[in-house]
Amino acid sequence: MDVLIHFFLGLHIIGIAALLGGFLTQMKAMGQGAARFVPAMLHGALTMLITGVALVGIHQAQGHEVNNIKIGVKLAVLVVILGLVYVKRDEEKVDKGLFGLVGGLTMTNIFIAVLWT
Ligand code: HEM
Repeated sequence: MDVLIHFFLGLHIIGIAALLGGFLTQMKAMGQGAARFVPAMLHGALTMLITGVALVGIHQAQGHEVNNIKIGVKLAVLVVILGLVYVKRDEEKVDKGLFGLVGGLTMTNIFIAVLWT
């Protein structure tokens, strides 16, 4: 089962790459107020949700302890990210502040994941 955990963790990281990478490609445009939520960001956020839930399930199935508060906070932050990216996915230009918020929340979740032990 360990291989399954590592497999889903790998997919979880691919999800981060898509979400954060998509954001980073739009940084210059964001400065000009012309950024948009690229498809990679939506697909990355969805990947994070699916692989995150799978990781929790596999850990629990093996009787491992999961930090429910940490996971709950990460889930709540991701729901905000996913909601914003989904609703604004077809807009050609997204407000600078809103776009920056999604990038900031993504980075917040990365630091919650690695610093909250
Ligand atoms: C933008 C959203 C997210 C980011 C950036 C993120 C980031 C990360 C990172 C960097 C790790 C590896 C470090 C660690 O083990 O803590 C990780 C692991 C994990 N994530 Fe996420 N995550 C996100 C969303 C979620 C969600 C929504 C869930 C659950 C519903 C979740 C569940 C997990 C679990 C269970 C692990 C631990 C895997 C293990 O210890 O084997 N994540 N996440």
